[in-house]
Amino acid sequence: MYKESIVNFKNKYLSPKLPLRKHHTEAPVDSHGMILYVEGVNKSFDGFKAINDLNLYIEEGELRCIIGPNGAGKSTMMDIITGKTRPDSGTAWFGQTCNLLEMDEPVIAKAGIGRKFQKPTVFENLTVDENLELAMKAPKTVLTTLFGKINSEQSDMRDHVLELTNLKDLRHRPGRVLSHGQKQWLEIAMLLMQKPKLLLVDEPVTGMTRQEMEKTGELLVSLSGSHSVIVVEHDMDFVRQIARKVTVLHQGHVLSEGTMDQVQSDPKVIEVYLGAE
Ligand SMILES: Nc1ncnc2c1ncn2[C@@H]1O[C@H](COP(=O)(O)OP(=O)(O)OP(=O)(O)O)[C@@H](O)[C@H]1O
Ligand SMILES: [Mg+2]
Repeated sequence: MYKESIVNFKNKYLSPKLPLRKHHTEAPVDSHGMILYVEGVNKSFDGFKAINDLNLYIEEGELRCIIGPNGAGKSTMMDIITGKTRPDSGTAWFGQTCNLLEMDEPVIAKAGIGRKFQKPTVFENLTVDENLELAMKAPKTVLTTLFGKINSEQSDMRDHVLELTNLKDLRHRPGRVLSHGQKQWLEIAMLLMQKPKLLLVDEPVTGMTRQEMEKTGELLVSLSGSHSVIVVEHDMDFVRQIARKVTVLHQGHVLSEGTMDQVQSDPKVIEVYLGAE
């Protein structure tokens, strides 16, 4: 069981040393200094168009909220950006040099795109500190990571991440005693230990208390600037709390984009999405 969870962890966080270089070619498109440049992307599943001519442009340091009804293609979009799903056609660049459509999942993670799934998967029997040690960027093997010493730079980084994620007082507690919200923060903290440039966060506040939700909002806002952050969320109160620019997806396509007020007053959005609430 323990061995199995180590293997799962290894697959999830510790990507093999795959060559990055061959994917670093000059962009044939001008990605206009965007950290993420997705254009004209299509993906069908058995003839059903889950993603339909999708364009998404994310600036460096931006916090972008993506909303849209169930089945709009939000998670599929994240699957495409992280290399889990290959689109049928289109363009997707990470910065000027990484062609995401030629890279596989571990290589994309290593290049600096971190993804947080909805369900937190922290090690219940390891302390918060140990969970973070495991998530460090350049471990040799899982075992040396578990039992080897971390250097002072890594230790400083861990302190910084603990501070950011409100987990400092819990650093010596095992994962199992954390609340659902605290586990979500620990998972975000584990992602941060890998120094991602772009963070994709899918439905982060499901099951959280109102207070945890507010703290999560503050955390994501504080991460923007030094990171680019894409947040997919259904909870409109939460989106309102953190929203800068909002993208509304519908049937795999961008229906509307702008401030929360702009998209909320867009008749197209009212008709297909907010009006249905
Ligand atoms: N691997 C797959 N095989 C077949 N259909 C899929 C697959 N992945 C997604 N789909 C379909 O693509 C559409 C978009 O799904 P997706 O999960 O991206 O939506 P979503 O916007 O994340 O929805 P939700 O808000 O419910 O999470 C859905 O109709 C879904 O059934
Ligand atoms: Mg989804």
